[in-house]
Amino acid sequence: MPENRSYVAPAVVRLPQYTKADQEEILGDGDDPFGVASVGLIWLPKEEHFAIRHEGRLVAHAGLLRLPVAIGGAATEVVGVGGVAVAPGMQGRGLARLVVTAALEHARTMGPEHALLFCRPPLVALYRRLGWHLLDGGVLVEQPEGRLVTMPLQTMVTPLRDDARWPPGPVRLFSLPM
Ligand SMILES: CC(C)(COP(=O)(O)OP(=O)(O)OC[C@H]1O[C@@H](n2cnc3c(N)ncnc32)[C@H](O)[C@@H]1OP(=O)(O)O)[C@@H](O)C(=O)NCCC(=O)NCCS
Repeated sequence: MPENRSYVAPAVVRLPQYTKADQEEILGDGDDPFGVASVGLIWLPKEEHFAIRHEGRLVAHAGLLRLPVAIGGAATEVVGVGGVAVAPGMQGRGLARLVVTAALEHARTMGPEHALLFCRPPLVALYRRLGWHLLDGGVLVEQPEGRLVTMPLQTMVTPLRDDARWPPGPVRLFSLPM
């Protein structure tokens, strides 16, 4: 950062929609931008979108949606976080932290007590740094034709209220993963 100039954090904006073209603006048009193709799962699109623009171009995104789950047999909801992406040339500058923090601020107004995400093992340390905790045990998620599969990626959660405690017991999503 140049001296004598105060740093102004980039603004996070809410997007009314988030298209494939928007994602490609951030991550390019490679066929596996999230590095999860090998797990062979079908994913849900997100419903609420938070983004950062730099010089008129989308450079960061995080998506949210409410998901029905059972935790230890009790039906509830979580806010699913997904589609977290920062343009390759802009990574390592805190943009994921900014956009995920803004998305979670909104998630706190959505009702559920926790947010949940799935990620590849190399990203666990990054999300821990952002205040997420690794969930032990397999999480069941749905796939087309009602198939139930155990999520092969890591599952992480973060509380959306000060008094929220993740309940013990197995976790089952009543939807595709996000
Ligand atoms: C994963 C991704 C979103 C990270 O974006 P980013 O802008 O580089 O991340 P940030 O710079 O905001 O880093 C967030 C924090 O994690 C920390 N961090 C980054 N890599 C880390 C690592 N390997 N171990 C520990 N902490 C790490 C950073 O230091 C930062 O912490 P700080 O704010 O306290 O300094 C980006 O690399 C990306 O878009 N990858 C491709 C798409 C993808 O895989 N998305 C994830 C879907 S779950």
